[in-house]
Amino acid sequence: MGRYLIAGASGYVGARLAGHLLAQGHYVRGLMRDAESDTAQRLAAQGVAIWQADLTQPESLVGVATGIDHVYNLTSRFVLENGLLRRLYLEGNRNLIAACSRSRSVRSYVFTSSVAPYGDRGDEWLTEDSPVAPNYPLAETLVAAERVLLEAARAHAFPAIVLRVGQIYGPGRDPIETVRSGTATLIGDGRNFVPHIHVDDLVEILARVAVDGQPGAIYNVVDDEPLRAAELYGEIRRRLGMVPPRSFPRDAALFAGMDPSVVGVASSSARVSNQRIRQEFGLTLRYPSYRVWLDEQLPIEEPSEVEMAV
Ligand SMILES: NC(=O)c1ccc[n+]([C@@H]2O[C@H](COP(=O)([O-])OP(=O)(O)OC[C@H]3O[C@@H](n4cnc5c(N)ncnc54)[C@H](OP(=O)(O)O)[C@@H]3O)[C@@H](O)[C@H]2O)c1
Repeated sequence: MGRYLIAGASGYVGARLAGHLLAQGHYVRGLMRDAESDTAQRLAAQGVAIWQADLTQPESLVGVATGIDHVYNLTSRFVLENGLLRRLYLEGNRNLIAACSRSRSVRSYVFTSSVAPYGDRGDEWLTEDSPVAPNYPLAETLVAAERVLLEAARAHAFPAIVLRVGQIYGPGRDPIETVRSGTATLIGDGRNFVPHIHVDDLVEILARVAVDGQPGAIYNVVDDEPLRAAELYGEIRRRLGMVPPRSFPRDAALFAGMDPSVVGVASSSARVSNQRIRQEFGLTLRYPSYRVWLDEQLPIEEPSEVEMAV
């Protein structure tokens, strides 16, 4: 049995990872800001040991990693809260690293960054060895956060691992719903690549990486087939019987006052390769492409024999 700490255990990924690890018989300590929330109560009922804390308040982290083998930092803030996010990712990671260093039992510390550090790279395939080129505030914040971890790994042999995660989707968080509700927006010409990962595959990878990942390594966590934004949203709209998506020029979106990070995430192209995780972990993804999920959720109805005869 392993002993795991999940910071952000009340989040979309954190709660699912907690359930996965508990089902495998592990001990799970869930760090969250509100121990009274419905999610906290539900996780506690499943067997998660709740630890109320805020990563930006070091005094709340005293003893949090005692006896823990593997740590995940899966915390996040809304993209528009970039100032708070910067504080959470820089101070928060530093505070949690300090708490883990004091405990002396921690063998891995996994932080979920995103593909944003790669910037806007057209059709170029990107590996973990490609240089970063952040081109909007959120991307710059993530590069700075990654540096905190990689520096701790280099200078102090701290067992930090950085995951560059694609857009996470699954039940309750699905581009189909954003298209249906009219909130999906195509910014730029739509030729930008958007990497995805299904939450079930992400949870499997998180579990593997904590145990078998290389300290100090970066891993891209994306599926096998990055899709172009226009292709993705066009296909969803087609299956929903909607007209093709309209797009807004990037400059017009910025001029109209849209947040630069929102514009950056929506319009930057990152054709990211998952070769490293596939080779190191011999993974078989349940959803190797968003198309597999799309076929499950919105199957294309084959015409019946009668319809074909007509
Ligand atoms: N969503 C994506 O498509 C995507 C893509 C790439 C990478 N990621 C990364 O993947 C990870 C998991 O994402 P997610 O979608 O599961 O996130 P999420 O649902 O937004 O959950 C984030 C969690 O962070 C917690 N949190 C925020 N500020 C905190 C603080 N100061 N101290 C302690 N906890 C704090 C929140 O707890 P409260 O309930 O207390 O607010 C929440 O449980 C995140 O690191 C995210 O940045 C996400």
